[in-house]
Amino acid sequence: MKKNKSLKVSIVMGSQSDYRTMQLAEKTLKKIGVPFETKIISAHRTPKRMYQYALDAQKKNIGVIIAGAGGSAHLPGMISALTTIPVLGVPIESKKLKGLDSLLSIAQMPKGIPVGTLAIGDDGAINAALLAASIISNNDTVIKRKLQNWRSVQTKKVKKNPK
Ligand code: RP5
Repeated sequence: MKKNKSLKVSIVMGSQSDYRTMQLAEKTLKKIGVPFETKIISAHRTPKRMYQYALDAQKKNIGVIIAGAGGSAHLPGMISALTTIPVLGVPIESKKLKGLDSLLSIAQMPKGIPVGTLAIGDDGAINAALLAASIISNNDTVIKRKLQNWRSVQTKKVKKNPK
């Protein structure tokens, strides 16, 4: 298997307020040892920043983009429209609709522009990181081993008896 050392994950989110959730993606990638960067990019408040980011991503050897957004959550879909790098969307739990709005906005992409959608909130952020690591590990034996090790630690933590 060929190893591409410089492939990293890019975590983006629509607002500072999303960081409470998205920091769990950072923590998970750190534990596994996957290199990443983190940025705030809003599709509606900073559209030019989003456009430039998506165009630059390919040049920066980014292998997977994790995009967290809440409400009318168009950030993951818009980024995916601008690049062929795989985009994983994390629906942020919104105040009014508990993230159902975010989930449907991210999951219901019309055909042609895919976004891999994870669960709402913290579980989604953690699983997005694990899935991103998994994608990167296809060309990286070191990450593959670390991911397998992470899984085996998790398995060992599950007790057989509830008492
Ligand atoms: C979205 O609007 C963000 O992703 C965030 O989840 C939501 C609310 O943003 P703030 O009003 O907290 O900045 O763009």
